[in-house]
Amino acid sequence: MAKNEDLFKKVVSHAKEYGFIFPSSEIYDGLGAVYDYGPYGSLMKNNIKEYWWKSMVQMHENIVGIDAAIFMHPTTWKASGHVDAFNDPLIDNKDTKRRYRADVLLEDYVAKMEDKVQKDIQKARKRFGEAFDEEKFVTTTPHIVENRARQAAIMKRMAASLDANDLADVKALIEELEIADPDTGSRNWTEVRQFNLMFGTKLGSVADGSTDLYLRPETAQGIFVNFLNVQKSARMKLPFGIAQIGKAVRNEIVARQFIFRMREFEQMEMQFFIRPNTELGENGWFDKWRKTRLKWHLNLGMGEENYRYHDHDKLAHYANAATDIEFRFPFGFKELEGIHSRTDFDLSAHEKFSGKKIQYFDPETNQSYTPYVVETSIGLDRMFLAVFSHSLVDEQLPDGTVRTVLRLPAILAPVKVAVLPLLKKDGLPEKAHEIVRMLKYDFNTVYDEKDAIGRRYRRQDVIGTPICVTVDHETLEDGCVTIRHRDSMEQERVSIESLRDIIAREVDMRYALARLEEE
Ligand code: GAP
Repeated sequence: MAKNEDLFKKVVSHAKEYGFIFPSSEIYDGLGAVYDYGPYGSLMKNNIKEYWWKSMVQMHENIVGIDAAIFMHPTTWKASGHVDAFNDPLIDNKDTKRRYRADVLLEDYVAKMEDKVQKDIQKARKRFGEAFDEEKFVTTTPHIVENRARQAAIMKRMAASLDANDLADVKALIEELEIADPDTGSRNWTEVRQFNLMFGTKLGSVADGSTDLYLRPETAQGIFVNFLNVQKSARMKLPFGIAQIGKAVRNEIVARQFIFRMREFEQMEMQFFIRPNTELGENGWFDKWRKTRLKWHLNLGMGEENYRYHDHDKLAHYANAATDIEFRFPFGFKELEGIHSRTDFDLSAHEKFSGKKIQYFDPETNQSYTPYVVETSIGLDRMFLAVFSHSLVDEQLPDGTVRTVLRLPAILAPVKVAVLPLLKKDGLPEKAHEIVRMLKYDFNTVYDEKDAIGRRYRRQDVIGTPICVTVDHETLEDGCVTIRHRDSMEQERVSIESLRDIIAREVDMRYALARLEEE
């Protein structure tokens, strides 16, 4: 099995075994692409939300939050374009009866071609060492130039066919490339057809008098329809943003990557309303949010090399610029967050469909107009997976043993401190409980007295607790404890009075938020 596949399996099993993520309704054999968060998972998820919310809302005077409902008037989805265009092209394999997204089959094919290129680059780097010039290598090595050109041609043809809704050509392309069912190798495909991803339901108790509804496939529309309510009630002046964290649901066709692509998930979205024509260019709002959001990610310290921008060539009908921030997941670089310049598409569409004027009166120019929008949209669960999969490592120790440790960014760790009495007697548990009582107002703190101290440290390592505090006999005499740091495993003796400050330095979100303000 490939190394990355192994890692991904380990991520899924670790998440379940240690109370982070469980398959939904597991006693009934689960439900496809739906998951529940356990004791540590829900704590960590809340920490991610807090980091996002504080950085977006609390730290920006001109951004406010809302919490809109999942049910919305059905015309919302006509106006937004979701009824007509929120489709994925699907294809079934007649032998295996498995369903795939036709575009994903093609993208995976191209990704495999690129894997070969990357392998050649690695080999060449090893061969040439310091002198290796990657740019020159990829632009002058004939088979790589040819491979990349073919990749581009495949993607271009797919994009053109999808744009023109020429689904027969999408199928023809799959056949020409001899793409087979990834699980069985069968090439017995059905035609490609469009499939709307929205879940429908009904409002009202009587079938006749009920209204057909959709469950929201994105949180953004709850912000657009509330634009005037928020702007007026909170007396906001352009430019300003509205942020929201909430559930969204999509009937995803391909949902086989754990919490990467779920049918019920959470989004953290912010719509930033601006004057028309201030979005593009070097000092435009699109570029500003693109940079601000990447900084938010890098601030977690998970390595610059694990992120990259992917600027879209093919834009959605409502956008005049779009970028994904991609992260290196165990299965390769994939979209983690999207930044979209959505022009005035959404507000204008809601104005047209509702018949209500949705405009902003600009006191500086004495004009009314429809604001433009730059959106930042990140999946909370996808962010969880990025952090969790990056942090899980098996570490070889000098004594030859292997330690499994979850090196979570300390501000996101579910438990911040574990207080451990060295022995279960001699007044040590009482002293340890006293320390828990002192710390629990500021930090999520646990107490553990079972098993040898080494095993207790390891128990905290697998859930990512950054700091363990050990109480021993000397503590009763000198008022000092031993602090053990998760990543370095280094230990230091500190006074109980200084504990709160020392821990806060490492785990308190305020320091991480302050770093975001630095130039
Ligand atoms: N309002 C814009 C919007 O919804 P999107 O690219 O469809 O744009 C934004 O979604 C983000 O939501 C993605 O970058 C991803 O992180 C997350 N996301 C989308 N579909 C998801 C799914 N099925 N499961 C988990 N996260 C998802």
